[in-house]
Amino acid sequence: MSQNIKASITAVEGYVPEFVLTNKELEKLIETSDEWITSRTGIKERRILKDPNKGTSDMAVEAINKLLKKKNIAPEEIDLIICGTITPDMVFPATACLIADKVGAKNAFGYDISAACSSFIYALVTGQKFIESGTHKKVLVCGFDKMSSIINYEDRTTCIIFGDGGGVALLEPATDENYIVDSILKSDGSGMQFLHQKAGGSLTPPSHHSIDARLHYVYQEGQSVFKFAVTNMADVSAEIMERNNLTADDVAWLAPHQANKRIIDATARRMGVGDDKVMLNIHKYGNTTSGTIPLLLWEYENQLKKGDNLIISAFGGGFTWGSIYLKWAY
Ligand code: UT7
Repeated sequence: MSQNIKASITAVEGYVPEFVLTNKELEKLIETSDEWITSRTGIKERRILKDPNKGTSDMAVEAINKLLKKKNIAPEEIDLIICGTITPDMVFPATACLIADKVGAKNAFGYDISAACSSFIYALVTGQKFIESGTHKKVLVCGFDKMSSIINYEDRTTCIIFGDGGGVALLEPATDENYIVDSILKSDGSGMQFLHQKAGGSLTPPSHHSIDARLHYVYQEGQSVFKFAVTNMADVSAEIMERNNLTADDVAWLAPHQANKRIIDATARRMGVGDDKVMLNIHKYGNTTSGTIPLLLWEYENQLKKGDNLIISAFGGGFTWGSIYLKWAY
């Protein structure tokens, strides 16, 4: 065990289902328009996992198998799998256990982290601590959601923003000065009233009533969530820059949770970071909840350079939010 071990992201992979749900298609389902959705959110289309026999774990398995292959790592070498998700395959067992079984990670233990849109950053920091403690050497941090399984496609304000997909990052002990440097994670359960899923938990177990009353879908008071998201995501991003003495020039990339382009723009403005440094794929995938940040890292991987300063920021249900400062390791 050593106090000096640091954790680096050494590989990323992503997966999105093939089916594309465009704004034009949504126009046929609900009273909306491509123009409204694009101007209010920045979203043009999202992916949907159509296969009724597939869940969140199946998307993770696709990405992990690709990651193991490209890194030439045997599944038995994985020590730990942490899965950030709010749409687990089942209430229990944890999706991470199912993933480990499906990819053949026989020596890994695993568990899920549920922090809505902040799930991936919570999971990344948790995985980081296992590496830093010296007890674990290869940790897979997943962020995946099959949001289509809990979205009411008659609720036009909510259904337009969500999609399915996600990604995975491999954490290993750092070999140089490029590693996860700092993080700020926060939560405030009083935000529950604005964003939650009413039924299916121990408070309101599934019943005929809960189905009839459509209580198993995402309930979101969009405008309220928007206000908290803009303030908190911008504040925490500025805070992590300040306490690490980073100016906007020092920041190579902002990887912001993709919920609404206007929230992303407000965060970047607050940090003083130009659009050219802001990772963006909301137009293609919408809000994949736990999936947005690893999907960004995957898509921008070939533009990242060793030593780049990255700020990752998220805000979501709980409320949960936070920022991570890391130096890209490859
Ligand atoms: O990732 C987890 C955290 N979640 C978020 O960060 C989401 C934050 N919230 C948002 O992104 C936005 O609040 C939404 C995109 C969800 C909604 O946008 P908004 O600008 O806040 O819309 P609104 O709910 O204030 O509605 C404005 C108007 C209303 O019409 P009236 O009452 O002004 O006549 C709505 O009925 O827009 C109407 N509207 C729509 N019109 C066309 C709502 N949804 C739609 C729609 N198409 N899909």
